[in-house]
Amino acid sequence: MSNEQACFTPIEEVLSSNCVGKEVSVRGWVYRARTSGAMLFLVIRDSTDIIQATVKKDRVSEQAWKNAEACTRIESAVTVKGVVAKDDRATGGFELQATDFTAIHAADVFPIAKDNSEEWLLDIRHLSIRSRELTAVMKVKATVLAACREFFEKKGYWETTPPIIASGACEGGSTTFNFDYFGKKAILSQSAQLYLEALIFSLEKVYAITPSFRAEKSRTLRHLAEYWHVEGEEAHMNFEQLIAFEEEMISFICQKTAKERPKELELLGRNPEEMLAIAPPFPRMAYAKAIEILKQKGMPVEFGDDLGADEEKILTAEYKKPILLTHFPAKIKAFYMKRDPTDENLVLGADILAPEGYGEIIGSSQREEDNELLISRLRADGSDPAAFAWYLDLRKYGSVPHSGFGMGIERLVRWICKLDHIRDAIPFPRVINRVYP
Ligand code: 4AD
Ligand code: MG
Repeated sequence: MSNEQACFTPIEEVLSSNCVGKEVSVRGWVYRARTSGAMLFLVIRDSTDIIQATVKKDRVSEQAWKNAEACTRIESAVTVKGVVAKDDRATGGFELQATDFTAIHAADVFPIAKDNSEEWLLDIRHLSIRSRELTAVMKVKATVLAACREFFEKKGYWETTPPIIASGACEGGSTTFNFDYFGKKAILSQSAQLYLEALIFSLEKVYAITPSFRAEKSRTLRHLAEYWHVEGEEAHMNFEQLIAFEEEMISFICQKTAKERPKELELLGRNPEEMLAIAPPFPRMAYAKAIEILKQKGMPVEFGDDLGADEEKILTAEYKKPILLTHFPAKIKAFYMKRDPTDENLVLGADILAPEGYGEIIGSSQREEDNELLISRLRADGSDPAAFAWYLDLRKYGSVPHSGFGMGIERLVRWICKLDHIRDAIPFPRVINRVYP
């Protein structure tokens, strides 16, 4: 760290440590500004927090006063030196009584004011991304990602880097982004799963954190065209072990986030205690039971229907912990899921649904090992087995039982942060009508 950097105190530290009576310098952006004659009240924001700075004309040099007056537009970049004083009226309980003030950049009129429409804020997302709420969400997301890596590390998994440019659709062709790859057809990866399956034969336990792409043609509160996918795959892992792994992983992530990001969670309206309470086991429900419950609640569903957001909302509304939905009809699930040995119409698949109505955050299964079954299921889905020749090879050379899962990071963050819309779980959302900025 350079000397120049070292002499600025993060605002969080000014607020939390005993700085009262001391002179400190902070560096940040003007978050709110109010003038009152020979006095300026400037709330300064840095990446850590906000603090009110008061600049009095007769307490600073003429130059410092001029600098401060030039920075009364919000988002001006400034440094403030001042003495910390307790002030219960100020946000955070302290104020910085300026002794010096410099302008790094006096901003133009910022285009964001109160009561902007959601669409406008999305149009200027490169600026609206500075909001305290989105900042808190991005910090929570960084902690969630760190927690994922830490958990996999603890479990002896290898991080790997599967391709994003792929040749075959893992989750069916209806939502692929297709493009020309030097004269051949290629797609943007929907899931790294098939490649992770290839990697378990050398590394045994593998994971990847990659962007995944789905050409979702509908607008929903939980679909992005580009999202971040955490996927794990483990050799010799059976269905029960898979479920235990997922329960432990989600609990670990929730608890670590509660411990490390309580301030951000509170700002977003999530009580950290609720996240600390997420621990195994999660309630379980077979698909058939879920259909029964939905019917009782008056939903027009039949056995064999895929469950959408509305159904998941009803199923999870009353739970505090995520729920495990298992044993789906093979017909509604992907070709690679292993059949239930006790009922060949069902698969050893488990979705994890976030509680409080948020819905699916994980899709997972034990994988089918039988090549003939895989081929017939590919054909039944209208896929050409020849396109999956490399994948089918994996069942010829030392095939072993194995399982894996994929978790949508923005789905998880949406639940943890209680976000209305998944787009706020990613800085620059890609949805059907939006690829700018
Ligand atoms: O359930 P999905 O489609 O399963 C797979 O892709 C498996 N191949 C994963 C695996 O076993 N390795 O997707 C997995 C998860 C979903 O549960 C959801 O959390 C997320 O990815 N997801 C999306 N997130 C945001 N926007 C979308 N359009 C999403 N589609 C799936
Ligand atoms: Mg799914």
